[in-house]
Amino acid sequence: MDKDYTILINSKNPLPADFIPKHLIDTGLPFDAIPGDPKRLLEEKTAHAALELTARSRMEGLSLYCISGYRSYIRQKELYTGNNYVAAPGTSEHQSGLALDLSCPAVHMELTEAFAETQEGLWLKKHAPLYGFIIRYPENKTHITGFPWEPWHIRYVTRPLASYLTLTGLTLEEYHMMENSVDFLDLK
Ligand code: DAL
Ligand code: ZN
Repeated sequence: MDKDYTILINSKNPLPADFIPKHLIDTGLPFDAIPGDPKRLLEEKTAHAALELTARSRMEGLSLYCISGYRSYIRQKELYTGNNYVAAPGTSEHQSGLALDLSCPAVHMELTEAFAETQEGLWLKKHAPLYGFIIRYPENKTHITGFPWEPWHIRYVTRPLASYLTLTGLTLEEYHMMENSVDFLDLK
């Protein structure tokens, strides 16, 4: 499994301010943003996986839209207001190009908990892992992730890890804690 895709990014594990992902691309995802807007960019593998995911949702008659992909450190700094929902600059997965926010017309393209109850939100939860994504900030895991439930924010971690985390119900934080303790016990 490619280590770069399993990276933990949070307040204790920030990205350097000057970190910019190497291969940021626009694969023509159905974005609610005009061409040329940097928020349409995603890391290469993430972008392709998201394209397959959204194409499949379209084939099933759903209207999933991408709202926000890559966000630079500077853009995150502009958005950061100190509220619970926006990560401090350097601590957002959006800076890695591995995270994507989605919504749908049924909730007016908003990033809201109500998205979880829409056909699109329910479909996303069920199908995201098949394409290598996890719902990164699940309900009832705020005490571990540090963020409220965000049913709209998916994070690319590769298919094996997405399947594992979904089946076990573990967050990325818990997975990394386990990995570190296995390293510590030298069982690998
Ligand atoms: N809303 C997520 C946590 C972010 O700002 O990266
Ligand atoms: Zn997000």
